[in-house]
Amino acid sequence: MPDVSTAQAFYGRWARLYDAIATFPGVGSWREAAARSLDLSAGDTVIEMGCGTGANLPSLRERVGPDGTVVGVDFTRGMLNRAASRIAREGWTNVHLVHGDATRPPIEGPADAVLASFVVGMLADPAAAVDGWLDFVAPRGRIALLDATRSSRASAQPLDAAFRLFVAASTPPATRLRYANPPWESLDERVAAARRPLADRTVDHTHETFGLGFVRLSSGRLP
Ligand SMILES: C[S@@+](CC[C@H](N)C(=O)[O-])C[C@H]1O[C@@H](n2cnc3c(N)ncnc32)[C@H](O)[C@@H]1O
Repeated sequence: MPDVSTAQAFYGRWARLYDAIATFPGVGSWREAAARSLDLSAGDTVIEMGCGTGANLPSLRERVGPDGTVVGVDFTRGMLNRAASRIAREGWTNVHLVHGDATRPPIEGPADAVLASFVVGMLADPAAAVDGWLDFVAPRGRIALLDATRSSRASAQPLDAAFRLFVAASTPPATRLRYANPPWESLDERVAAARRPLADRTVDHTHETFGLGFVRLSSGRLP
């Protein structure tokens, strides 16, 4: 699985820089919105697929409280190490990290909610992954996907070239070479594909965009 090893090597190398970007002022409000869309209550269990350096963990932990459980799954050790430092710093005993492939998470469900932020664009078959994640969600539980894509807003067009550059730079080089299309087109396709099972299998959908439309949040609830 060359895509997996190149992504792991890439994110492992850039974990520190990634963490700085992931916690940049302003990004926090998108993360808050994603956590809010999960409609968590104290005592709930929430799983974050592809949790990276743990930038979402504070808002998830705050919502489930000391009696809830947060589980972060990621396949890149360097990213998980940063998440582990965050957990240790905060002294959270109910936030757990699992090293593994989020498309076949080595964990047991069901959970009250699943979150994946800036992840589905990296997956070879995002629709199948989200379909599998929905099997982890308990009836009436929620799923939320937060992603960057190109924006269709006229006001965003001056930034389109910068966005494409950012997507190209943040795609592992070996993965980029394998794409049939430019990486920003592949990203758009994967982000759209990930939303199909969410649209088909859930109800009470919410959709929000941020950052001039470059970031989109979609959520839904299982019946
Ligand atoms: C762009 S980062 C996003 C991290 C975090 N969700 C955030 O919002 O900051 C993507 C993360 O997904 C992880 N990832 C990608 N594909 C994965 C997979 N199949 N299984 C587990 N982790 C994966 C990468 O290791 C990386 O940490």
